[in-house]
Amino acid sequence: MKRILLIIVATICSISVYASDYTNVIVPRPLSCQAAEGVFVLTPKTVVRASSETLVSAGKIFAEDLAAITGSTLAVRKSSLREGAVNLSVDSKLAEEEYKLKITKTGIWITGGSNRGVFYGLQSLLQIVAATNKDKVGYSLAAVTISDKPHFAYRGGMFDVCRHIFTVDEVKRYIDILALHKINKFHWHLTEDQGWRIEIKRYPELSKVAAYRNQTIIGRNRVSKVYDGTRYGGIFTQEEVKEIVAYAAERYIDVIPEIEMPGHAVAALTAYPNLGCTSGPYEVWTRWGISKDVFCAGKEETFEFLENVLTEVLELFPYKYIHIGGDEAPRDRWKVCPHCQKRIKEEGLKDENQLQSYFMERIEKWLNERGRSIIGWDEILKGGISKSATVMSWRGTKGGIAAAKLGNNVIMAPNTYCYIDYYQTSNHKENNEPLGNGRKPVTLRKAYSLDPYEGLNKEQQQYIKGVQMNLWTEYIATFAHAQHMILPRIAALAEIGWSYGNKDYDDFSRRMHLLRNVYDKQGFVYAPYFFEGVE
Ligand code: ACM
Ligand code: ZN
Repeated sequence: MKRILLIIVATICSISVYASDYTNVIVPRPLSCQAAEGVFVLTPKTVVRASSETLVSAGKIFAEDLAAITGSTLAVRKSSLREGAVNLSVDSKLAEEEYKLKITKTGIWITGGSNRGVFYGLQSLLQIVAATNKDKVGYSLAAVTISDKPHFAYRGGMFDVCRHIFTVDEVKRYIDILALHKINKFHWHLTEDQGWRIEIKRYPELSKVAAYRNQTIIGRNRVSKVYDGTRYGGIFTQEEVKEIVAYAAERYIDVIPEIEMPGHAVAALTAYPNLGCTSGPYEVWTRWGISKDVFCAGKEETFEFLENVLTEVLELFPYKYIHIGGDEAPRDRWKVCPHCQKRIKEEGLKDENQLQSYFMERIEKWLNERGRSIIGWDEILKGGISKSATVMSWRGTKGGIAAAKLGNNVIMAPNTYCYIDYYQTSNHKENNEPLGNGRKPVTLRKAYSLDPYEGLNKEQQQYIKGVQMNLWTEYIATFAHAQHMILPRIAALAEIGWSYGNKDYDDFSRRMHLLRNVYDKQGFVYAPYFFEGVE
């Protein structure tokens, strides 16, 4: 019955616009929508007029995306704003990410607090057109003024390209998905036990050795004993990295590279074994899990290596934040390593937890001196952290809550809501879900229910800078499978990040059926469960 009802709702949604209450259409839900009289008809002849060259680029991206929906590509010109057109301009009185989208009988005006705001206004317009039926003359868009801005400044999506690698075009498609949902940070997980994925010119063995594993486990980790016997890997060259960072920038998405330390480092250790406590030999991992082999915190050459790596990383990534990992670093090797024990003694540290803090703070200081700031997984709290470190809470929300109480900035990415490598229905076997992670599923409803402020008073809430979804790829070898995990759950994250305080799951569910049309038209693959009424 539920399934039939949903199909009826989906059908109604796809053939009618709810007058001009476009809050019923757009995901993430806009802040306010004021209906007015009349319609503007968007036709293939409508021109996009932009007040600056950079807005011409934003207009062109919009025109391309719109073409996938309407079948015709609008012309985009740098020009003065005029009636009869889609007009793009900046109004510095608005906040940076804020926009106003005004549809009147005589034209469409999008003003943003910056180009970024205009870009978000264009995403909303795209969804409005997609939800409108084409008539003989074109798309009759109801007159309206939408005023909109995000609640959280940080709205992120992480992509692990280490456990499995994806092509440059696939990474760009991931970025397209983020852009459609007004997500503004791309956290790119680039180094792991199973493969190092970023070219560092000073260390060519990273590309030759660390980027490849001899084979890959088939099936469930710790259960399966079967391997595929096939060498696997690859690297993103610096030219490719630049191309991806530029592609993201055109979509107003900041890229945050993650260079993992001190754990998840076996691939790097395989190429440069002296950087480990035992000096190896090591082998790039062929299965999943947590390795006891980590970077040695006692040897100076470890820091020399990481600083040289980061020197090249900083050249490639202009955004202020660099993620330096910090998760899942067992202390076993450090406990028996003479170099690490000497470091503990000389620095007056209490134990190996403080040794990790020493490690992270030393790298943080080095980055701070170069104008950058760090993000680390919540394990960095354990031996103490500096005031300027941002904590990414992944083991539930407790790490984030503790960090906010300390006055550290926090990004909430709790696995229980934000890990989209987890199954997405309550019965993954019955629903034929592909092999996934997680003891409990992250259904769309569950993902949507995250309250990033839970457990914090008003004063502490100011440290919650935003939210992020994480796609780990141990069991995800193709981009079609990746999309199946991302969509539609990333939409829930987008709405938490953008429309916090204005959330309503039933209302969101109705709008998701409209967004599905956009997914279809743009050729994105998505999981069917929610759309078929399966939770
Ligand atoms: C993590 O999932 N190990 C951050
Ligand atoms: Zn050591």
